[in-house]
Amino acid sequence: MRIAVLTGGGDCPGLNSAIRGIVYRAIDFGYDVIGFEEGWKGAIEGKTHRLSLVDVEEIVNQGGTILFASRTNPFIVENGPDRIMENLKKFEIDALIAIGGDDTLGVALKLYQLGVKVVGVPKTMDNDLSGTDFTFGFYTSVEVAVDALNRLKDTAKSHKRIIILEVMGREAGWVALYTGIAGGADWVLVPEEKPDFEAMCTHLMKDLERKGYALVVVSEGVDISLEEKGEVDQFGHTLLQKRGVGDFVADIISKKTGISTRSAVIGHIQRGGPPTVFDRMLALRTGVKAVDMIQNGEFGKMAALVGSEVTAVPLGDATSKLKLVDKNWLDLLRVFLK
Ligand code: F6P
Repeated sequence: MRIAVLTGGGDCPGLNSAIRGIVYRAIDFGYDVIGFEEGWKGAIEGKTHRLSLVDVEEIVNQGGTILFASRTNPFIVENGPDRIMENLKKFEIDALIAIGGDDTLGVALKLYQLGVKVVGVPKTMDNDLSGTDFTFGFYTSVEVAVDALNRLKDTAKSHKRIIILEVMGREAGWVALYTGIAGGADWVLVPEEKPDFEAMCTHLMKDLERKGYALVVVSEGVDISLEEKGEVDQFGHTLLQKRGVGDFVADIISKKTGISTRSAVIGHIQRGGPPTVFDRMLALRTGVKAVDMIQNGEFGKMAALVGSEVTAVPLGDATSKLKLVDKNWLDLLRVFLK
């Protein structure tokens, strides 16, 4: 039995831990493991990567992915799915593990429907995948963003300023929400809610009067009514960082309040560095579970965290709709905006 593994979409901390979990569990069943490099690109082009015990034993704490990543969508590449199937035959691969977010797992589902024996391992710093309570990468990113917010607080306080921190997260506000609540921000803007700039500025003026500074966390995907679509990736997603939401909000605040305001974009810094223990454990457990699912013949599913258990859920549950911040979470956020 030989299995192949790939990491698709944007990287996030925990990918290497998941690869380690897969290889270690595969050894228990006597399976051979190889990697495809750069996500679906490597599966299309037949670019493989050796994955034996020595290749993975020291990577549990390493950020990024030793398999490299890309946002290649095989369904828009000429003969993409056929080339993948040819390579599965050529390298004598019996089953494929796709580690990724909604785009990568969406491709995995389509390939499964075409007859490929595939299982998924969910990952994304955005935490926007349905069917799983959390994805690895998320907590590490939030830790980094909270650290950044703490640092901004020192400088905001010294200069009696308002400082905006723009974080990633795409159409979901999880990273902004957790960063804002856990980091003690004074206002948080998430894509799920239309921004009320008047209310925000009135609130920030109160904060300034009381403590002399204020911090705002803004999600890159927040609705600022920009019409232009800009550059898109192979899955049709706009590169949101280019919209400059943090600067846009800082301008509005300084115009409306007359207070000196700055903005900082944390960007890809959030995606690097060693995974937290939570993310390592989740990644290792989902990696192990994915191999167990192959052993049990449970294809077309992903290894998801449901409550405290890692369990097999259909890939369709993950990819049918995004998991967004809902009213309960927004109510919790409001408790801390005093
Ligand atoms: O999906 C993960 C993510 O980090 C998003 O939060 C962000 O919008 C996007 O990837 C950035 O993509 P890229 O690394 O291609 O610039």
